[in-house]
Amino acid sequence: MKKRILTGDRPSGKLHLGHYVGSLANRVKLQEDYDQYILIADVQALTDNYDNTEKVTNSVKELVLGYVAAGIDPEKSTIVLQSQIPAIAELTVFYLNLVSLNRVLRNPTVKAEIEEKGFGDSIPAGFAMYPVSQAADITAFEANLIPVGDDQLPMIEQTREIVRKFNNLYGDTLIEPEAKISEFPRLIGLDGKAKMSKSLNNGIYLSDSVEEVNKKVMSMYTDPTRLKPTDPGHIEGNPVFVYHEAFNPDKSEVEDLKARYRKGKVGDVEVKQKLAIAINNMLEPMRQRRAELEKNPEKINLILKNGIEKGRAVSDEVLRKVKHAMGIDYKF
Ligand code: TRP
Repeated sequence: MKKRILTGDRPSGKLHLGHYVGSLANRVKLQEDYDQYILIADVQALTDNYDNTEKVTNSVKELVLGYVAAGIDPEKSTIVLQSQIPAIAELTVFYLNLVSLNRVLRNPTVKAEIEEKGFGDSIPAGFAMYPVSQAADITAFEANLIPVGDDQLPMIEQTREIVRKFNNLYGDTLIEPEAKISEFPRLIGLDGKAKMSKSLNNGIYLSDSVEEVNKKVMSMYTDPTRLKPTDPGHIEGNPVFVYHEAFNPDKSEVEDLKARYRKGKVGDVEVKQKLAIAINNMLEPMRQRRAELEKNPEKINLILKNGIEKGRAVSDEVLRKVKHAMGIDYKF
């Protein structure tokens, strides 16, 4: 039997190239060899958007479109909408007894987010405990492997602790997942900042048109020390070359541009034009798949409905086992 993989995203707007490089491209490959579940984590997104539910709900279809555009095949990957899986909520309640308040507040990712969001003394309890609900996500689908970047490692650790505690207390019931560390680096922004992100407005969206891509690439930061095209330029950390490495499949073109750039024999414009072509070539099939699905909203609904149905069947069975292990499967 294929191992089961679970990944998840909080719905919050459009997907960009950073998402593609960091996880979507990987998922497109993983769906060939694993039984892959992709969770649209709308309940988790609500923990810090409870006062702006539309931001979350409006982004759900956007995620489905983005997945399919990127090459996720709903026949191979099961796309599950978290809020429609009641077992996750029930499991969360049981798991909360197995975790101390101090433990959730010590989670480094949660700590950093609390800081970043400026909650001050008013940390929503739901936010602080979202790692416990994430443990419910992971165990509800009996996932063996969770592909993660660094920031998600504390969630897997928390899940493993809960699983071990549960199994010790109530008998072997839950599957202990393992992190599958992603080898994909974080993509820097068009402005050279550490990360491409919607809030920094420094990204290229998977849904951007050819014109938008051209314009954004032309506006990219390059080597700040290079004033004229005849000045020798630097490649390392230079966003246009980072992107060439990531998106231009023509390696000899990239090597040629690098060599000429170092010698001051190529201008930024040529480097950028070639980059824009490479990115547009990569995005073109995505645009087509997106347009196809956008024309057919019934199909989006069907993808969600099928995923929910499959997700409920699996997670209800886990919940049944959990209740049995805890002795709360009363028969009246
Ligand atoms: N916490 C993840 C993020 O912020 C999203 C997520 C929710 C998730 N549930 C998950 C990831 C389960 C992996 C497994 O990106």
